[in-house]
Parts: sequence; C-alpha cells; structure tokens
Amino acid sequence: MPSKEANKIQGMFSSIAPRYDLLNKILSLGRDRYWREFTVRKLPEINNGVFLDVATGTADIAIEIVKHYPLGINVIGVDFSHHMLELGRKKVERLGYSGQIELRYGDANSLPFEDNTFDGAIVAFGIRNLPDYKKGFQEMSRVLKNGGKMVVLEFTPLESFSNGASLSFLTGQSHILRYFYLTKVLPLIGEIISGRKGAYKYLSDSVVDFPDPEKLKEIMKGAGLREVKYYLLTFGTVAVHVGTK
Ligand SMILES: C[S@@+](CC[C@H](N)C(=O)[O-])C[C@H]1O[C@@H](n2cnc3c(N)ncnc32)[C@H](O)[C@@H]1O
Repeated sequence: MPSKEANKIQGMFSSIAPRYDLLNKILSLGRDRYWREFTVRKLPEINNGVFLDVATGTADIAIEIVKHYPLGINVIGVDFSHHMLELGRKKVERLGYSGQIELRYGDANSLPFEDNTFDGAIVAFGIRNLPDYKKGFQEMSRVLKNGGKMVVLEFTPLESFSNGASLSFLTGQSHILRYFYLTKVLPLIGEIISGRKGAYKYLSDSVVDFPDPEKLKEIMKGAGLREVKYYLLTFGTVAVHVGTK
C-alpha cells in the first residue's frame, strides 16, 4: 500500500501521463533517447534473459531493451501509475512487442517477484521518486539473480559540480545554465504543456535534492551491489550507475 507521499507522486505522474513522452523529448532537448540507449547497453549480453524495468512509465526502457536484444528476451515493466501503464501498453502493442514485454502494476518499494528472478534490472528516472532509495535498491537487488546487473539512469544534482576544485570553464557554465534551466525553464514549460501546475516544479526540486553520483554509488554498495561504477553523460546532466549482485 503506497504511503501518503507515494500517493501524491502516483497522482502527479498519472496527471502528466498523456504528455509525458512529448515533454521528455522537449525538456531533454532530444537527449533522452541517447541516454536510454546507453543505459540499456549496460545490461549483460545474454540469450533468453529476463529483464526488469522498474518505474517503467510508458515503457520506453522496456522497448529499448527488446530493440537492442531482439532474440529470446523477455521484459517485465513495473509501475504504480495505472495511467502510465495504460499508455505504455498501447505503445508496446502498436510496436508489436506484446509477446516480449509485459507491463504490471507494482510498487518499487515492494516488488511483486520472487528472489533471484531477473538477469538484469533497470530503473530510469525512477529511483529519485522513492522516499527511501536504499529500500528501492534492496528490492531490485533481491529480485536479481546472483551475477545479475543493476543499471540506474538518473539526473545528477546540481551540487555535484559546485564543490569540485577541478570545475572546468565549460562545466561551470553548464552548471549555471542547468540551474537556470532546471529551476526556471523546466517547471514553466512542463506546466504549460502538461497543463498541471506544480508537477514539473516537483521534478526539478527532486533533481536538486538527489544524492550526487559518488553518494549514489555508496548507497548501491550498501544495498549489496559490487563493482559499482558510473558514467556521466551530456556534461554530467545524467549519470548511469552499473552494479553487479
Ligand atoms: C519520470 S518517470 C520515468 C519513466 C520511465 N522509466 C522513463 O524512463 O521514461 C517515473 C515513473 O516512476 C513511477 N514511480 C514512482 N514511484 C514509484 C513506485 N514507488 N513504484 C512504482 N513506480 C513508481 C511513476 O509512476 C512514473 O511512471
């Protein structure tokens, strides 16, 4: 049963669902596709694998997995917004992937699967929404097989670049631009296109408050992952963390 805070987040995502894909493209300036492709390529290259996409939303990661591993792969996407799942199912059907992708209702804090089920588990732009990141990672780790990979795509907080002595001119400029973009431009465009006041203000606030990539790496290790490393993409706008159970 989702908590009060989770209920709020659930309602917020359901309300923006109809415009979610369009806003992703606009607000990421078209980079979201590249970020998802990069993320999916960090899954293990195996035949007949079963992969999990946590907080699947409209199933873009699940679809990318099936495109990248066309043979013998099955993906289960889980989300707690019925509205997002409904749009995802329509998209999966339209693209002819219904035989390989199953979308299910479920809470990332208490995944509806047995231990040691999946060869790989991804969460893209989802872990930030959980009140307890560690619990989310523990759940993903629990359902991974031993040796399975966990891959996490998430925005980096602005603080990651404000305290480094090695801040380059380019990164410094991009930090200021990102701050302006995240706190002013993104909430405004999000509000205009989704028609939902405040929804994208929540998203920008949650990015600002999120742990930096080094901290996230430690949280993943604390949840039982080993060999955790991360890649920064698009001037450090997003980080892709990879760990092994
Ligand atoms: C920003 S969207 C990301 C969707 C997708 N992974 C993508 O890359 O576009 C975040 C998703 O997380 C889902 N979500 C948030 N908290 C959740 C939870 N506790 N359990 C399951 N899904 C959750 C929301 O419903 C929403 O669909």
